[in-house]
Amino acid sequence: MNTITLAILFLHLSLFLHSSSSSSSSSSSSSSPVSVSVTPKTIPKSGDHVTIRWSGVDSPSKLDWLGIYSPPTSSNDNFIGYIFLSAAPGWESGSGSISIPLVNLRSGYQFRIFRWTQSEVANATRFDNDNNPLPGTAHKLAESEEIGFQPGRGPEHVHLALTGRVDEMRVMFVTHDGKDNSVRFGLTRKKMDLVVGTRVLRYEKEDMCHAPANDSVGWRDPGYIHDGVMANLKGGKRYYYQVGSDSGGWSESYSFVTPKAHLKETIAFLFGDMGTATPYTTFDRTQQESSSTLKWISRDIEALGDKPAFISHIGDISYARGYSWLWDNFFNQIEPLASGVPYHVCIGNHEYDWPSQPWKPDWASSVYGKDGGGECGVPYSLRFNMPGNSSQLTGTRAPATKNLYYSLDFGVIHFVYMSTETNFLPGSDQYNFLKHDLESVDRKKTPFVVFQGHRPMYSTCHRPKEVPLKEKLIEHIEPLLVKNKVSLVLWGHVHRYERFCPLNNFTCGSLDKNGVDNWGAYPVHVVIGMAGQDWQPVWDPREDHPNDPVFPQPEQSFFRAGQFGYTTIVATEKKLTFSFVGNHDGEVHDMVEIMAPGQVLIDDEASEEEEATQSWYYVKNICLLVFVAFFAYFLGFTSHFRRDASLDKNWARLKDEDV
Ligand SMILES: *[C@@H]1O[C@H](CO)[C@@H](O)[C@H](O)[C@H]1NC(C)=O
Ligand SMILES: *[C@@H]1O[C@H](CO)[C@@H](O)[C@H](O)[C@H]1NC(C)=O
Ligand SMILES: *[C@@H]1O[C@H](CO)[C@@H](O)[C@H](O)[C@H]1NC(C)=O
Ligand SMILES: *[C@@H]1O[C@H](CO)[C@@H](O)[C@H](O)[C@H]1NC(C)=O
Repeated sequence: MNTITLAILFLHLSLFLHSSSSSSSSSSSSSSPVSVSVTPKTIPKSGDHVTIRWSGVDSPSKLDWLGIYSPPTSSNDNFIGYIFLSAAPGWESGSGSISIPLVNLRSGYQFRIFRWTQSEVANATRFDNDNNPLPGTAHKLAESEEIGFQPGRGPEHVHLALTGRVDEMRVMFVTHDGKDNSVRFGLTRKKMDLVVGTRVLRYEKEDMCHAPANDSVGWRDPGYIHDGVMANLKGGKRYYYQVGSDSGGWSESYSFVTPKAHLKETIAFLFGDMGTATPYTTFDRTQQESSSTLKWISRDIEALGDKPAFISHIGDISYARGYSWLWDNFFNQIEPLASGVPYHVCIGNHEYDWPSQPWKPDWASSVYGKDGGGECGVPYSLRFNMPGNSSQLTGTRAPATKNLYYSLDFGVIHFVYMSTETNFLPGSDQYNFLKHDLESVDRKKTPFVVFQGHRPMYSTCHRPKEVPLKEKLIEHIEPLLVKNKVSLVLWGHVHRYERFCPLNNFTCGSLDKNGVDNWGAYPVHVVIGMAGQDWQPVWDPREDHPNDPVFPQPEQSFFRAGQFGYTTIVATEKKLTFSFVGNHDGEVHDMVEIMAPGQVLIDDEASEEEEATQSWYYVKNICLLVFVAFFAYFLGFTSHFRRDASLDKNWARLKDEDV
């Protein structure tokens, strides 16, 4: 159920309450003996739970609410989030309790209880970004004492990234004071005797370029961002590390596995648009489904044992959109994974979009808007540090925008990231980088190339305002992908999963009747923005019946799904297997196999009729696939013995639609 539906329900509910409990008026506020208490007074560490208890609420109403404040001096309207007291069992008695995890925002918290009245709902003047009225603060019933976090527990937001060198690993984290902090690391937990210092960065309110990021509703102190590189690492080893300082405390010890120099297997987890889950409602929609995505990925990473892997989150990272604490929430949420596996990102509209962004050609006026909530790329650019040195000046006092485009080798795959938010047209630095990078891949070293960006080149979930951007991507970027035989192209932005045929300018590659390859090594495009954000129109309706709920699937679109999830890549030198895992059951629901140059080519039409939702079909498909692959290999071997090695691809269609 979406927030708007909830809001409507809620209004109905409150009208009902209004008529059934007319005695509950708003005048009870000042004299009411409402008390509110919190335990513990000192929260051991970020993400730990606190319990808020209240009693003495006279004539309890469904409109009574709990506001969560940090710092405790925040004005009544500037809460972090809110929860209706009616979420607590037995709230009708006037007392109850709520237990929630709290993230360390480097200052204390306070809780306040308010009564909101029916006429205030009807006359609301403040709304959240989905147009639901924000709860009113005219009648405060009680406020709690202040609580805080235990000092000396060390830094937070620990996350790793590859630097582009196989013998290095970058670690970033946040402290409240920016004092000297180090990374100590080693090959056993007992002997972390290698030490490296960190570079410290920070951004200020004045670096934000728009509200809410630069006003008192959205801005909170972001802390100090530390960045250190563990170097001279041996390949194929598990390293242990800790971050912190003697004065500020040390983090727990984490570990990661370094890739071998000539790693012959690549494992990656990829998705876009994940966001963060919050235990409260706030000014912008948050992404409860992100917890599920991370839960399943963490299951998969645990199962890998000592194999290295990495995570790729292709834009729309935290969905903070100017509400600074959502970044804290996000990094707290990913820390268990990102402290053990490199976490790679590219930029999305929700990190960047703002009215005066430096590159906004006329044709893009409908494309770029205000989706960044006034952050203009600053938190994104400083809180991550991706390989390469791409950067774009902001034209304001804000630091340049970073982490725009880069590439890295991980085992048998060359990964390339682009920015769909900044200039990618011929003549731009980005275009030159992408062209040069794609043209110089050593396919003996990395037989596969996976290309990623945020806003899709292809999607059958059509938004007219995005069309000019799609056209430019197809005109200028696609020829680079086709010419340089990119294996797989991944996009986010659309909050659904959709896999296309190998594509070039809307044309599917295909086998002709004699089994001869005439598709010319087109890349397989997949939209993977289904990791957490929920809002999304359905698929395109029929053109001549725009309002009828029929959504024909164009022939280029091979599989589309409406459920949340993530994707995985497992690749050897010979074969790249790309799978979509659904969050509802943690099972694989779609899969495509792409063979390295010189291998076979099949179109597994046979399995097209399969139903989608039962896992035994999947198993069956795999068996079938193995058989067909073997058969096709044989065919391929005899019928085109001397084919151009680099032209060949293998893909398999498992099922069509799974909405
Ligand atoms: C809205 O406020 C006005 C006065 O400001 C009041 O007369 C009116 O009754 C309120 N509306 C509702 C639906 O309560
Ligand atoms: C936020 O940025 C806008 C646009 O630059 C500016 O007009 C406004 O004054 C800023 N707000 C604050 C509180 O600094
Ligand atoms: C950094 O940028 C310069 C041009 O500004 C370029 O020549 C150089 O190769 C870049 N370095 C990396 C590591 O990308
Ligand atoms: C794509 O195809 C259309 C015609 O279908 C053509 O006008 C256009 O030039 C093609 N684009 C490219 C980049 O080849």
